Amino acid sequence: MLKLGVNIDHVATLREARYRGRGAGEPDPVAAALQCEAAGAHGITAHLREDRRHIQDRDVWALRERIKTRLNLEMANAPEIIAIALKLKPDIVCLVPERRLEVTTEGGLDAAAHEKALTKTCKKMNDAGIEVSLFIAPDERQVEAAARIGSQFIELHTGAYAESFGRKRERNAELQRLVKAAKQAHSLGLRVNAGHGLNCQNLPVLHLVPHLVELNIGHSLVSRAVSVGLAAAVKEMLALMKDYRG
Ligand code: PXP
Repeated sequence: MLKLGVNIDHVATLREARYRGRGAGEPDPVAAALQCEAAGAHGITAHLREDRRHIQDRDVWALRERIKTRLNLEMANAPEIIAIALKLKPDIVCLVPERRLEVTTEGGLDAAAHEKALTKTCKKMNDAGIEVSLFIAPDERQVEAAARIGSQFIELHTGAYAESFGRKRERNAELQRLVKAAKQAHSLGLRVNAGHGLNCQNLPVLHLVPHLVELNIGHSLVSRAVSVGLAAAVKEMLALMKDYRG
């Protein structure tokens, strides 16, 4: 069964737009996470950015305490955040780029260029009982690097696929890149997640990508929640995911 991880960053974005620096405020990303779980989500994702743009430290501690599914902490490979993760002990961390330097032209983590540093962090996390995922573009070099680094998962960046969705030839090319990368990763023993830019329109076609374990979806769910509520938005997405055959 294809799993849904809900990224709640944009619930915090909305709160910070009004209540930045106030230590509390609405909407509460933790309450949102609990609603997502009650609606059937398999995990909760939050990105504790170095600039604390949306999710705050207090949010990740409250999430760790209160959610019953898996906590996926998205994070940069940065010493301050690594130290927090090792104390927080999320079920999994997903290492993502935050600075331009670390970003490949495709927008994922440049795992190939940062192999040594990522290997070190991966080992630290694994030694603490935390699984590791690397957010990478569907690119052969990056998948090979992820396998060498020793992460348990990769998360394939679906942003280019989502962006090109309205242009059939480009979309099919992006889809083929995702298919190829998923097959390559699977053959190397990596488990495969995917995310970024996914929504109810582009999700059914993504079913053509094999070996997917979990999708991480944020913006489209939080946006849809404005119209139908968060629980209904999560249920709609889960209904679209249930026919996935791998
Ligand atoms: N996966 C990763 C690694 C991300 O950085 C993001 C965006 O925060 C997502 C998934 C979710 O993307 P979206 O909000 O476009 O659904």
